[in-house]
Amino acid sequence: MTFYNFPQNFWWGSAASGPQTEGRTDGDGKGDNIWDYWYQQAPEKFFNQVGPGRTSDVYQQFKSDVQLMKQTGHNSFRTSIQWSRLFPQGTGAINQQAVDFYNVYIDELIANGIEPFMNLYHFDMPLALQAKGGWRNRETVDAYSHYAETCFKLFGDRVKKWFTHNEPIVPVEGGYLYQFHYPAEVNLAHAVQVGYHETLASALAIQKYHALNLDGQIGIILNLTPSYPRDATNPADVKAARIADAFFNRSFLDPAVKGEFPADLVAILKDLAILPTYQPTDLALIKANTVDLLGINYYQPRRVKAKETPIDHTNGPMPDDFFDNYDMPGKKVNPYRGWEIYARGIYDILTNVRENYGNLPCFISENGMGVEGEERYRNPAGQIEDDYRIEFVQDHLKYVYQALQEGSNCLGYHMWTCMDNWSWTNAYKNRYGLIAIDLDHDCQRTIKKSGYWFKQVADQNGFEA
Ligand code: NOJ
Repeated sequence: MTFYNFPQNFWWGSAASGPQTEGRTDGDGKGDNIWDYWYQQAPEKFFNQVGPGRTSDVYQQFKSDVQLMKQTGHNSFRTSIQWSRLFPQGTGAINQQAVDFYNVYIDELIANGIEPFMNLYHFDMPLALQAKGGWRNRETVDAYSHYAETCFKLFGDRVKKWFTHNEPIVPVEGGYLYQFHYPAEVNLAHAVQVGYHETLASALAIQKYHALNLDGQIGIILNLTPSYPRDATNPADVKAARIADAFFNRSFLDPAVKGEFPADLVAILKDLAILPTYQPTDLALIKANTVDLLGINYYQPRRVKAKETPIDHTNGPMPDDFFDNYDMPGKKVNPYRGWEIYARGIYDILTNVRENYGNLPCFISENGMGVEGEERYRNPAGQIEDDYRIEFVQDHLKYVYQALQEGSNCLGYHMWTCMDNWSWTNAYKNRYGLIAIDLDHDCQRTIKKSGYWFKQVADQNGFEA
C-alpha cells in the first residue's frame, strides 16, 4: 500500500456552470441565450425533451448546496457567470438582480471556506448577439470584452481565479462542424472564424484583467484530448495524430499559453484558403496577453490513424479529411457512456504542459465519469453506490500524483461535477455528480458514496491504495 500524498494547499473541489445549474425563475431578469432559444425551436433535440429551464435550481438552493459542498470536501469550486443573466441583451443594460445573485453566491462560498473560481463563457451565447452572428461577428468580441471587464470590476475583489472560456473548441465543433450546439452548421471556414474570435476575446479579457491590477490570476479552461497514433512507428499514423492534435488541442493551447497559433494548423488553413479575417494588431495583442493559469479538462484520449476512408466532400473541407479515428481493440470503455477510459492520458497532458508549455501553473479543472441509469445503484438507504466512479477518480489521481513527482506544476483537481446537472442536448442522460438529484422530487439532493470518499481524500490530502 502507498499513501498518495498531494502537495499542501492542493485544490480539491468540482466544477459546474451557470447555464447547467442555475435555472430560471419568473422575473429574474435573465435574457435568452442560444440554449433557451434552441430548446424553444427544437425540443426533440434534447434527451427526453428536457431543456435548460429544468436545472438543479441552484439559483434558489445555493445556500444549502454550499453546505453540501463542504460535506463533500470542497475547498474550491468553479462555476460560470451567465452572460445573458448579467446582460440580458449581451451588452447594454445590466440586470441588477444578477449582480445581487452572484454577490451573495460568491460571499456564501467564501464564508464557508470554499474559494470561488469563476468562468466567463460556458457555451452560453446571449441570443441577441447570436442573432448578429455570435462569435462569427467581431462585434461579439467587443461585447464579451465589456462583459468580462464588468465582471472583474463587480466581483474581482473577492474572486481571485478567473477563466475566459470553458472548452472553447466545443462551440466550434458543436456549432459549426458536428451540429450538437446551435446554430448547428457544418462549415469549416465559419468554425475557424469562431475559434479565432474566441481566442482574441480571451486575450482582450486577459489584457483588461491585468490592467485592473487585481490580486488574482486569469486563465482558460481547455479540454485536452491527447492524440495517440494507431502505430507510433508508422509515419502516416503519426502525421495524422499530429494534425488532429493541431485542430483539437494546439488550436487553443498554443495561443493561450504561447501567444502564437500553431504553424502546421495555419499552413493547412492557408492551403484551404480559410484563414480567419483579422486585424493586423490582433496578433501582437494575442502574443502579449497569455494566461496565468491553465485549467485542463480531461475525459478521454483521441486515437487516430492515417486517412483510409474516402473524403466526404458534401460540406466542404473538414478536419476529418486529414485523419480517421481509430477504434483501438481492447481499450477500456466506460460501459455506461461508451467513452474510453485511459487514466494515463492525464499524466501525458501534465507532462506535455511541463515539457512544452513552460510548466505553467495548471490544474485538472474537470475529470469524471458520466453514467446513464445511475438510479439502479441506489441502495435501500437511498445512497447511490458508485464504486466505479471512485475507482475512476482514484486511477486518474494516481497519474496526477506521478506527474507531480516528476515536477508538474499541477495545483489541484476538480471533478465534473458537484451535483448531477443538466448537460446540453444530453440533458440528464449521463449523471456525473458527487451528489445525486431527484428530478421528480424538487431536485432533492443526496450525497453519493463517491461524495463521502472524496471528502476523505480532501481531508487527508490524499489516499492510500
Ligand atoms: C465538459 C463541459 O465543460 C460540461 O459543460 C459538460 O457537461 C461536461 N464536460 C460533461 O460532458
